[in-house]
Amino acid sequence: MESRRSGFKNYLRAGVRELEPYEAEANGPPIRLDANESPFDVPEDLKQEILEGFRALPWNRYPDSQCWELRQVLAEKCGVTAEQLIAGNGSDEIIRDLLTAYGGTGTQTVFPIPTFSMFRILTLVTGGNPVGVRLKDDWSLDIPSLLRELGAESTRMLFLASPNNPTGNAFPVEQVEEILKSTDRLVVIDEAYGLFAQQSWLSRLGKYPHLAVLSTFSKAMSLAGVRVGYLAAHPEIIQGLNRVRLPYNLDALAQHAALKVMAGFEFWKEQAGKIVSERERVSEQLSQYPRVRVYPSQANFVLIRVKEAQHLKQELARHGIAVRGFSAREGLDDCLRITIGRPEENDQLLKLVTQLL
Ligand SMILES: Cc1ncc(COP(=O)(O)O)c(C=O)c1O
Repeated sequence: MESRRSGFKNYLRAGVRELEPYEAEANGPPIRLDANESPFDVPEDLKQEILEGFRALPWNRYPDSQCWELRQVLAEKCGVTAEQLIAGNGSDEIIRDLLTAYGGTGTQTVFPIPTFSMFRILTLVTGGNPVGVRLKDDWSLDIPSLLRELGAESTRMLFLASPNNPTGNAFPVEQVEEILKSTDRLVVIDEAYGLFAQQSWLSRLGKYPHLAVLSTFSKAMSLAGVRVGYLAAHPEIIQGLNRVRLPYNLDALAQHAALKVMAGFEFWKEQAGKIVSERERVSEQLSQYPRVRVYPSQANFVLIRVKEAQHLKQELARHGIAVRGFSAREGLDDCLRITIGRPEENDQLLKLVTQLL
């Protein structure tokens, strides 16, 4: 037993050994503008309805392993068939399942950088080699470099978050189509922020059998705490994912809540519109400071670059507002990502920025 006290780190798989645990801050400042969540909770009457439905379900039984009803409803909304869909415990889980099924030891995963950190982390977790291709200074895609990496024998897939996190820009359709036409590798477009940009790649699934479109209920649909994501792709891609998916990956509450939330889709679209107008207001006001570079955003957050980024983040936190800093991330020196909050939260942010700059 004695020898068990230490040394387990040596047994960690290569790749995992170098990783740090993902630590999202739970007890930070009260105004949370750091995690790209919706600032609006699910309306009370809808919560009540969801809870009543959940109470009526048999808790002693396993949930529907296929998420059949949810996939039917999503299929209709996405204009695809249920066979083209898989649901996940958040879209994070689907990213991991994609890499478990199609990546792994000896393979490469390509993505632009900076982007959502889980593409790199989950590639390492699943034994693959992450290859980041720097975005240009205006955050546009470096197509020749991406195509070069996609051409490597060992490359299995490309992840493109559009709008991209943390840069906020959506990649132009022509550029992404150029990539799709030039490769037969799996191209996963992560539309976590798609509803804020009012654009989607779903309608092109029929044209490109190697395209997969990832979405989540965590952002515009206010369900980050419940964990529901989904992927639409060719049925063959989905079948591959079903081989590695845990049998009951979505619990009964998550399936039920997602169904109820989907029923009010127009409401969420409208709410996304309100967040977009706030985003424009916040961006415009921040742009008035010559020292602040505000990057145009099509998501529910804005990225800014300012020399005093670290100081600003600390002072905002001291005054009760959490924003996300990226001091150690390549290409993001002096950058802060500010999630759009409720109007009164944004007012408070803007007031503090005025005092601090
Ligand atoms: C681009 C992108 N994809 C996926 C996710 C994860 O979302 P989920 O809550 O569905 O796991 C995030 C969360 O920040 C994200 O920014």
